[in-house]
Amino acid sequence: MKVLAIEGSPRQDGNSSLLLRWVTESISDMGGKVTRYCVRDLHIEPCIGCGECDATGVCVFEDDVAPILDVIADSDHLVISTPVYFYHVPSQLKAFVDRLQPLWAMEALLKKPWRRKRGGLLILATGATKGERLFEGILLTMRCVSSLLGMTMMEPILVKGVDAPGVIEGMNHIKEMAQEKAKELACF
Ligand SMILES: Cc1cc2nc3c(=O)[nH]c(=O)nc-3n(C[C@H](O)[C@H](O)[C@H](O)COP(=O)(O)O)c2cc1C
Repeated sequence: MKVLAIEGSPRQDGNSSLLLRWVTESISDMGGKVTRYCVRDLHIEPCIGCGECDATGVCVFEDDVAPILDVIADSDHLVISTPVYFYHVPSQLKAFVDRLQPLWAMEALLKKPWRRKRGGLLILATGATKGERLFEGILLTMRCVSSLLGMTMMEPILVKGVDAPGVIEGMNHIKEMAQEKAKELACF
């Protein structure tokens, strides 16, 4: 099992990152191979909508994104962790999502299907408040990503009411949930 893990929080050792670590450690324990990227450590130019990829399927920017697209194509599953920022993902992670546009261009405009995977997309998200619609923005975008990548959107782990960095650490029921999700990925 090859899993690409993308850590979307700008904050090191925060709540969503810990959630991701619980999932990836379980995957590794089961013998899976995890490739992990932290968006805060990457050089990701925001999409400028130039339309170049509409014609070529390739982005004009040569930064850290293209190698990750290769890893996506080679992975069975994708796990993305993120905090809620103003009811969406942080801008660094959104910049990465927008840079998936060349894959859309390949599929929809150039009719050159890239290597579609049939694995799962697992979203792990944390937010400080407890409103019913707290994760709606994130999930809408991520459903779009799963459809683009040909992956099945798995039931996400969404944790409300966590704010201070690492406060999730002592929440053993959440840790168990993360470990169960890793097992689900393995059986997918
Ligand atoms: C810029 C910014 C915007 C935020 N917006 C929201 C929000 O809209 N709703 C919410 O419940 N929490 C919001 N939060 C709180 C974070 O979602 C919360 O602290 C989360 O657990 C952080 O996860 P992390 O430790 O993985 O970064 C925001 C935090 C920041 C810094």
